[in-house]
Amino acid sequence: YENPKIEALIRQMTLEEKVGQLNFYVGDLFNTGPTVRTTESDKFDQLIREGKLTGLFNVHGAAYTGRLQKIAVEESRLGIPLLFGADVIHGFKTVFPIPLASAASWDLEAIEKAERVAAIESTAAGINFNFAPMVDISRDPRWGRIAEGAGEDPFLGSEVAKARVRGFQEQSLTDPQTMAACVKHFAAYGAPDGGRDYNTVDMSERLLREMYLPPYKAGIDAGAATIMTSFNELNGIAASGSQFLLRDILRKEWGFKGMVVSDWQSVNEMVAHGNAANNAEAAMMALKAGVDMDMMGDVYLEEVPRLVNEGKLDIKFVDEAVRNVLKLKYDLGLFDDPYRYSDTIREKNNIRAVEHLEAARDVAKKSIVLLKNKEKLLPLKKSIGTIAVIGPLADNQADMNGTWSFFGEAQHPITFLQGIKDAVSGQSRVLYAEGCNLYDRSKDKFAEAVNIAKKADVVILAVGESAVMNGEAGSRSDIRLPGIQPELVMEIAKTGKPVVALVMSGRPLDLSWLDENIPAILEVWTLGSEAGNAAADVLFGDYNPSGKLPVTFPRNVGQVPIYYNHKNTGRPYEGDYSEPLSERIYRSKYRDVQNSPLYPFGYGLSYSTFEYSDITLSADTLNAGESITASVSITNEGPYDGEEVVQLYIRDLVGSVTRPVKELKGFKKLMIKNGETVKVDFTLSSDDLSFYRHDMTYGIEPGDFQIFIGSDSKNVKEQHFVLKN
Ligand code: IFM
Repeated sequence: YENPKIEALIRQMTLEEKVGQLNFYVGDLFNTGPTVRTTESDKFDQLIREGKLTGLFNVHGAAYTGRLQKIAVEESRLGIPLLFGADVIHGFKTVFPIPLASAASWDLEAIEKAERVAAIESTAAGINFNFAPMVDISRDPRWGRIAEGAGEDPFLGSEVAKARVRGFQEQSLTDPQTMAACVKHFAAYGAPDGGRDYNTVDMSERLLREMYLPPYKAGIDAGAATIMTSFNELNGIAASGSQFLLRDILRKEWGFKGMVVSDWQSVNEMVAHGNAANNAEAAMMALKAGVDMDMMGDVYLEEVPRLVNEGKLDIKFVDEAVRNVLKLKYDLGLFDDPYRYSDTIREKNNIRAVEHLEAARDVAKKSIVLLKNKEKLLPLKKSIGTIAVIGPLADNQADMNGTWSFFGEAQHPITFLQGIKDAVSGQSRVLYAEGCNLYDRSKDKFAEAVNIAKKADVVILAVGESAVMNGEAGSRSDIRLPGIQPELVMEIAKTGKPVVALVMSGRPLDLSWLDENIPAILEVWTLGSEAGNAAADVLFGDYNPSGKLPVTFPRNVGQVPIYYNHKNTGRPYEGDYSEPLSERIYRSKYRDVQNSPLYPFGYGLSYSTFEYSDITLSADTLNAGESITASVSITNEGPYDGEEVVQLYIRDLVGSVTRPVKELKGFKKLMIKNGETVKVDFTLSSDDLSFYRHDMTYGIEPGDFQIFIGSDSKNVKEQHFVLKN
């Protein structure tokens, strides 16, 4: 790729100006890393004038960004426009559900729409470079940033990654209502040892390629303009200095032509990792590996000119990085109109527009997963009588927006209490008690909560995690309800009143006690601006829940990592401990907990019952290059219209290397009316059966396959076919 305008510009640039184009600082709105900068705006003004900044991130506002852009364009020697970056992770001022939640909708259109709204709002406020989507696969609910991804599965994760990139970038970056997407964090950031954020990752290349890399590749294939490196080391090399990841895989294998940005000081952190002796070595490693832009590290700014002048670093690496940065600015249309993103009128009209809030409510209700509904307690009648709404998250605006929602304002979200009150207004009485605090262990507020529970016909109990209990640096070694909440739940359960638990979390929690003792459980994740309205839609049956878990819920933390696409082992055990001891003793299992999860991947109930027919296949054999169609009929046995996520899995029974017991290969979300039967077809090509074979070539192997279709990864119909050569 050569753009003559960019090449001409590069020829005019001094070495210092080149390095300035690689230097990216946080602005004065909020810090998202350990270094707190002095934040006088004048400091930025001067750096921009001197050509020492390529842009700022975590700033916003049409007027503010416009002012800085003017300095860059009119007062710096070459007039190169600035980038304005931000973490617009789940909406801007209209806050959408956290990404793990929206992934639970399995509704790609709704997800794309959410990101479209995020782009429309944030681009009006000057932002043209979004540090999203985070597409890191995670099998570990201890890791706090699981909240920000699409869960554990590479197929679902890839589909969601594509939808998010489409939403941010649409057809073309030249539209000022789009912004550059940034697939992150490359690579394997979601697999730190022990689930502890930033920790070491060591995994086989096969596992990396099969489970962790696909969503990054999908995001790149969908056209993502940029990618961010990760904090972790992978097999001994920090990701920000990894030639294997950034040159061999990203650029050579995948043909990525975009811009690579480091994570916050992740270049400098190569010194702490032990890959580089000092910042100069770190800068050299990163530039040579292909990290174009240094986020917050200062190492390019401070080290690179000297390294080049002393002949230690070839200028070609600097030029390559500058080219990638300038190309991004060019593709965003900044050279044509540097002010296109700073639009005060759009900012005034677009932010929190009615249709944006409607979209947020739509995604939010679709993200809710019905985990349990004993004796059809839900949906509730709006005229039920007296409703006790209890819990530290019941009327807690501050935590509703969730992790990574710096732009969202605390006074905006609809709480669960508010949503419920509005839904039943004039039909039922609503009582409220906080019950306990999230952070201390005091039981002082229990009595009031028990008291109102006793007066109620139903209790709605909102418990779970605050916004800061998950997200970056939000790892937890104990994934039960935090603090004193388990005791509160027990006290309320003792009243004998019917209880509906709204579990708000950014990760799978250990819900074993709730599952045994509470009749109805809704996983409401963290739903953003419209949380309360969306929850009320589901509680009172205005919306029939359709969310499905994008990640396995363990019975306890000791089962972690637990994921549906595991291998079989030589001594598999799927029993429930009812067999004679001699038959189960030397099997792969625990002594104190079953192997099965509490709720499997793909699981989620509806207020309706969907009945699946057996699978019919278009053929029972398949040759290389051919396709096979698998069909089922699904009947909604009522009593409501509802959406179902129909899931297709395969198992390759024998391979040159062992294969997972199930792999998701397709899904469709459909509305099926009460009483209606719908036929669903899935077409699989022989390529869909490919994997990394023993010699690490990617392709198919002939043999027997099982095919499964069902409403989750456990509850499936099964068929069999043979793949021939
Ligand atoms: O985009 C983020 C990244 O995900 C984690 N470190 C800070 C970056 C910028 O805020």
